[in-house]
Amino acid sequence: MRFDILTIFPEFFNALDLSLVGKAKEHGLIEIGVHNLRDWTQDVHHSVDDTPFGGGAGMVMKADVWAAAIDALTGVDAHVMPTAPDASPEHPAQIVLAIPSPAGKQLKQADLNRLAQAKQIIFACGRYEGIDARVAEYYAAQPDFTVFEFSLGDYVLNGGEVAAIALIEGVSRLLPGMVGNPDSLVEESHGAAGLLEYPNYTRPADFRGLRVPEILTSGNHGAIARWRKNCAFARTAERRPDLLRALEAGNLDRKDRAQLAVLGWFVPENALHPMRVEYRAASAQDAPALSEFAARTWPDACPAGMKRVDIDAFVQEHLTSAAFTQYLAAPERYLVYLAEVADCHREDSTQLHEIAAYLLIEISDQQDGVVAPEAGAPIDFRYHGVHRDGPLVYLSKAYVDRAWRGSGIFREFAE
Ligand code: 6GU
Repeated sequence: MRFDILTIFPEFFNALDLSLVGKAKEHGLIEIGVHNLRDWTQDVHHSVDDTPFGGGAGMVMKADVWAAAIDALTGVDAHVMPTAPDASPEHPAQIVLAIPSPAGKQLKQADLNRLAQAKQIIFACGRYEGIDARVAEYYAAQPDFTVFEFSLGDYVLNGGEVAAIALIEGVSRLLPGMVGNPDSLVEESHGAAGLLEYPNYTRPADFRGLRVPEILTSGNHGAIARWRKNCAFARTAERRPDLLRALEAGNLDRKDRAQLAVLGWFVPENALHPMRVEYRAASAQDAPALSEFAARTWPDACPAGMKRVDIDAFVQEHLTSAAFTQYLAAPERYLVYLAEVADCHREDSTQLHEIAAYLLIEISDQQDGVVAPEAGAPIDFRYHGVHRDGPLVYLSKAYVDRAWRGSGIFREFAE
């Protein structure tokens, strides 16, 4: 693999002589050429930039200078010889023109895995307001080039040099013979599991009063593997919920689902991916949705022989929007909680209602004649981990939407 870097700050890349990349270079696993873009300027001032067409702040790097440099580095004069001799349909574009830019596609591990197959990667490290857009357009149209405009993330740096170093290091460690122990590529963050890596510890077991988690010294490898996976889920839930949302439901076993449930993520029936559920006290605006939900789920709890008219009559009396408005207007008498899908924009095509479950709890009113609770009657309850102490409560309704039954949602919701 050969990397060629075009930059106006060649010294930036002295860092590539260090560490594993430096060693790989020494051993001939990779070749790195660093080139000063100004070597391809034609004018006495060696200028690489000019004012933008259309006006605006800053300067734009000149397409003609960049193209002269890129052509020289590929040894392919694209005007004369558009197809490299060994270009085949399976490997249509072996030369990658990588253009770091905050406006590029965010670099992912999958991009690095793919780029590790390239023969040559040329970096066009822009400064100022970037490179004339026709450079990317022109090389994208050349048969043996792939243009890859990439960004490190949603923030702005002064130029592409740091991003080029990041890409080189990320690709190099994937090349055969680079990383001493290939196993260390397996369990890492952004690996096949789709989770962030679990935390790691080494001696001393006690560091300034912080003890290493006991399980890691237990010798129980099964339990350690489970603990690590649970940590990976918890970390990912907190830092990268987008990764949890992308997990394939089919790859999640019962233990995975139990841990996800603790974190507020569930897999409803037929869903392709986990979904996050939030719990909250209902408010007046929720009355119509609660009524719809309650009327739909209530018949599921009716005895098999119950007549349709009686079911409908109950719904008309107790589960209308007006009825819920009344419950919600009397918080000293009724508590209404709901569990709802946290993301309104689901890529999943699964048809799901926003409300996954609800609880309607009546608080006893001494004037209503409740004198002494029966033995074992629930006077306390826990709602999403929050404990509430008496007085006597009556759990009037506790309903889970059909698709969510069996997902573990209720256990996390109330007790
Ligand atoms: Cl690739 N370039 C610049 N200039 N800023 C960035 C970036 C790249 N990625 C994130 N910020």
